Amino acid sequence: MAFQRYLTFIMIIICFVTCYSTTLHEDPLSSIVGDSPYINDGGTFKGIIKQSTNHVLSLMSKLGDTNSPSLKTFDVDDYGAQGDGKTDDTQALKKVWEVACSTKGSIVVVAKRNYLVKPITFSGPCKSNTITFQISGTLQASDNPSDYNQDPTHWLMFDSIQKLTVNGGGTIDGNGNIWWQNSCKKNEKLPCKAAPTALTLYKCNNLIVEDLTIKNGQQIHVQFQNSANVRVSGLNVTSPGDSPNTDGIHVTNTENIQISNSIIGTGDDCISIVDGSKNLQATDITCGPGHGISIGSLGEEGAKEFVSGITVNGAKFYGTTNGVRIKTWQGGSGSASNIKFQNIQMNNVTNPIIIDQNYCDQESPCQQQKSSVQIRNVLYQNIKGTSASDVAVQFNCSQNFPCQGIVLQNIDLELEGGGEAKASCNNVKLSYRGNVSPRCNYIEEMNELGGLKILIE
Ligand SMILES: *[C@@H]1O[C@H](CO)[C@@H](O)[C@H](O)[C@H]1NC(C)=O
Ligand SMILES: *[C@@H]1O[C@H](CO)[C@@H](O)[C@H](O)[C@H]1NC(C)=O
Ligand SMILES: *[C@@H]1O[C@H](CO)[C@@H](O)[C@H](O)[C@H]1NC(C)=O
Repeated sequence: MAFQRYLTFIMIIICFVTCYSTTLHEDPLSSIVGDSPYINDGGTFKGIIKQSTNHVLSLMSKLGDTNSPSLKTFDVDDYGAQGDGKTDDTQALKKVWEVACSTKGSIVVVAKRNYLVKPITFSGPCKSNTITFQISGTLQASDNPSDYNQDPTHWLMFDSIQKLTVNGGGTIDGNGNIWWQNSCKKNEKLPCKAAPTALTLYKCNNLIVEDLTIKNGQQIHVQFQNSANVRVSGLNVTSPGDSPNTDGIHVTNTENIQISNSIIGTGDDCISIVDGSKNLQATDITCGPGHGISIGSLGEEGAKEFVSGITVNGAKFYGTTNGVRIKTWQGGSGSASNIKFQNIQMNNVTNPIIIDQNYCDQESPCQQQKSSVQIRNVLYQNIKGTSASDVAVQFNCSQNFPCQGIVLQNIDLELEGGGEAKASCNNVKLSYRGNVSPRCNYIEEMNELGGLKILIE
């Protein structure tokens, strides 16, 4: 028996070595940014190999391996950048991008200095089959609003680039103070105007964004738009808790996106997920200050919008106004469906669990309307901690389109400082599994809804 086990062990080793070396013999780049989507690959084994090749690749780039025909490094300093934090380095970035984008397998390097940058778009498609934008230092935004006249809504933008990696351990600094001061949310006398998103990734497929600090966004810090197969990790996204509309990570019309191991504290949503987003997984997220993780808002001005396949698994919230929130305007249509919020710690969160189908973020009051974005199949599982308000669980759903398939499983939320929290439930078809506290007051709900059935498992 012992010998048989020994044989099996040897076989496994041989198999491992064979598989491992074949992978390494492949073009290392292709195994990092392969054609298969990152999520759904499922196998840890593949993950290990990816990590190893990643490691080899990073070693190679650290050694500046000139033997590798597939990787060429382009340093922005060689294209005239000053990196003194005062001289405008936009042209140097434009030049280095042009060269890197038209070379196969290139790495753009931004050294450990401070580069002052006006709005810039790094456009593809690139000739390069893979391209890395490595920020070791700081890209600092010009804070002269007239520099943004041409397009007031973007500062740094990557447009239509395949197999792009943005990383490097450095900082993207939106220098947003002037925009916050001039926001109508700070000063009601001022008109409401758009402000730039610090970093936009638009139409980028097979994208990696990792290991960066993104701070003081003029408005949204980082936005993923019309992209697919995206891996985001190791981000530190920060701005003051009172900076207006400074969402951390905004996802719009993007599919297959994993956001992991990131710390986000801003003046608005830590993560906001809006129309056209599908298959998003957020894991190991620390959020606060801010407005929490939001799906929506959806359905503004009668829009028909869809979000589905969203999982938030492993998150900690500190002092945020919301924990996990779904928000829709009245009068919209479409749906938010197949959503899981799992393994979440709330610390002094004002609305830890909230669905608001009467969302209204405008000066004039919103009118009652019949249609609504349908909310369906939402699981809340293993959510614990404290609420800063009396109402820890709030389902304010639409009368005509009640929330359906809402499941609460193992929920334990109490008041910050101790005491029982409440649940407030309108127009929700709900079931419980395991221990759930607080629970809705059914009798009251049944009366309010005039007999609408609320399921209890
Ligand atoms: C995140 O970035 C901010 C601003 O640069 C910094 O103060 C903070 O220490 C960083 N946090 C982590 C965990 O790196
Ligand atoms: C909890 O949050 C509330 C309001 O957000 C704040 O006033 C209070 O100081 C916080 N408590 C603790 C213990 O942090
Ligand atoms: C639910 O929404 C309605 C309509 O906007 C609002 O009047 C009500 O106060 C909300 N309920 C709660 C508990 O927030």
